[in-house]
Amino acid sequence: MYDKFNRRINYLRISVTDRCNLRCTYCMPECGIKLLDHNQIISYEEIVEVVKASVAMGVDKVRITGGEPLVRKGIVDLVRMIAQIPGVKDFGMTTNGILLKKYARDLKEAGLNRVNVSLDTLNPEKFRQITRLGDIGPVLEGIAEARKVGLHPIKINCVIQKSSQEFDAVEVSSYCKKNDLQIRYIHQMDLNLGYFSPVEGGDGGDCKICNRLRLTANGMIKPCLFSNNEYSIRELGIEEAFSMALKHKPKCGSVNTVGEFYNIGG
Ligand code: 5AD
Ligand code: SF4
Repeated sequence: MYDKFNRRINYLRISVTDRCNLRCTYCMPECGIKLLDHNQIISYEEIVEVVKASVAMGVDKVRITGGEPLVRKGIVDLVRMIAQIPGVKDFGMTTNGILLKKYARDLKEAGLNRVNVSLDTLNPEKFRQITRLGDIGPVLEGIAEARKVGLHPIKINCVIQKSSQEFDAVEVSSYCKKNDLQIRYIHQMDLNLGYFSPVEGGDGGDCKICNRLRLTANGMIKPCLFSNNEYSIRELGIEEAFSMALKHKPKCGSVNTVGEFYNIGG
């Protein structure tokens, strides 16, 4: 499918939950968030229907995000259901890695191709500061396990303040070189203020080549992270929600005053 600026849309990012087992300072307020009611959250059956419809329209790349996708119950079953849909060629997940050691093998066996893991520093205290409650140990073990079971390539999302030359970014980069991991530097963004820029080492944040649509945890198709536009699959039906999202995908992102990363997906 093509949007009205002739960008080919072949990539669907699915936020399966707004819950997370971390509280990264740049993503969530410390006091927590108002979570979606369970009945608002899309079911696995609904997600599968959306993926099937999107594949029929030309999507061949799917990514599961969150919140933290591995905290949603039965996530391996969802991965299996999506992996079995003919036409899904590239199937990835973005995770904070906390539960990855436990799930890596099952995810691989269920048909996931690859993972992106968030890691902004190698310093355990700094990691705890950034994530407010996180322990870096399990993340590093999770990455090692993902390598072992062959989830390949593994990409590391490293959020930077100013430059990829800052101390933590350089440390994470040398860890990546040693461990056969690809690094992507993501400038810290602010959805509400409209601060965003292209990801170094990735395709995100570059409006000219944007090939994405998003499905949120409460069943909205969003054409752009930096826009308030969203179309309900429940109210409009899947086809119409996609068609509206395509029609209203902005040429370039501006601001999002209603959403946050944890409920749209990073
Ligand atoms: N700016 C940049 N990246 C962010 N992420 C979450 N919040 C922000 C933000 N404000 C990233 C995380 C993770 C991905 C899911 O989204 O670092 O890698
Ligand atoms: Fe959780 Fe990811 Fe947000 Fe951190 S950035 S709080 S790991 S959803």
